[in-house]
Amino acid sequence: MFALPWTTRVRVPPGERPPIEVRRPAFDVPEDAPKYFFRGEKGVTALLYALSAVFPDGERMFIEAVRANQDGTSDPALRRAISAFVAQEAQHGRVHEAYNEYAKRRGFDVDPISAGVRRRTAAMKAHLPKVVRLAATAALEHYTALMAEVVLGDPRFADGVPEAHARLWRWHAAEEAEHKAVAFDLLAEVSGSTYVRLRSYAFTSVMFPTLTALHTLHLMSKDGTLTDPRAHLGLLRFLFVDPGLIPRLLPGWLDYLRPDFHPWDRDDRELLREFRAGLA
Ligand SMILES: [Fe+2]
Ligand SMILES: [Fe+2]
Repeated sequence: MFALPWTTRVRVPPGERPPIEVRRPAFDVPEDAPKYFFRGEKGVTALLYALSAVFPDGERMFIEAVRANQDGTSDPALRRAISAFVAQEAQHGRVHEAYNEYAKRRGFDVDPISAGVRRRTAAMKAHLPKVVRLAATAALEHYTALMAEVVLGDPRFADGVPEAHARLWRWHAAEEAEHKAVAFDLLAEVSGSTYVRLRSYAFTSVMFPTLTALHTLHLMSKDGTLTDPRAHLGLLRFLFVDPGLIPRLLPGWLDYLRPDFHPWDRDDRELLREFRAGLA
């Protein structure tokens, strides 16, 4: 078995993982917040709205995949975690639907993106076995958990961002961190195959970054910023330098390849403690 030097090997035991708490924040982003809310960066703002555009239908697919497989476990703790996961993701969908409507009012053409996600998730449901849909969910949940680590752990992510926007992203990030192992644990019970897990991860690792890039360019094109070199430079800076999303995600991306990987090998307890302290 190969080892990656930068990954944690101390798995947070089930009894010490933070609770999966369902919060119901109101959507409260003011209409007069700056259009390019991420420090005036046109490309980065498009990227964030492109991510938001896929969440409601993407998360409905996660819920469907987990529910379709939930009879595969009789573990009462995992069944409780599944209920909390479903409630959190349903709430994320509702808030991001409001956020997407807001994005439209600010001039971002998110509808074709959401429609594309709806078409693809319907095709997945029609043509892929439920265990494969669950493996895809576990893979995408790893992506959201890694992004959550950056959002919660790096104060630069909220630097110069209006509080209501930052609060929405931090809330979603915290709940992604809380429920990051649910689809994974269910997959381990119903399949247990590293091949099934990693085949979906490989597929997801091509599709998710490619579609995110295309969605971002679509929003920039409709917004008239596609030919603005500063918009692209700002986006590249965000992705590679400050906060440097891609190099920050890379070690965690590799982590998933370990045959004995578990999401709680990455200890997010301190980040979640800080998030809760910020709410109190
Ligand atoms: Fe979510
Ligand atoms: Fe999630």
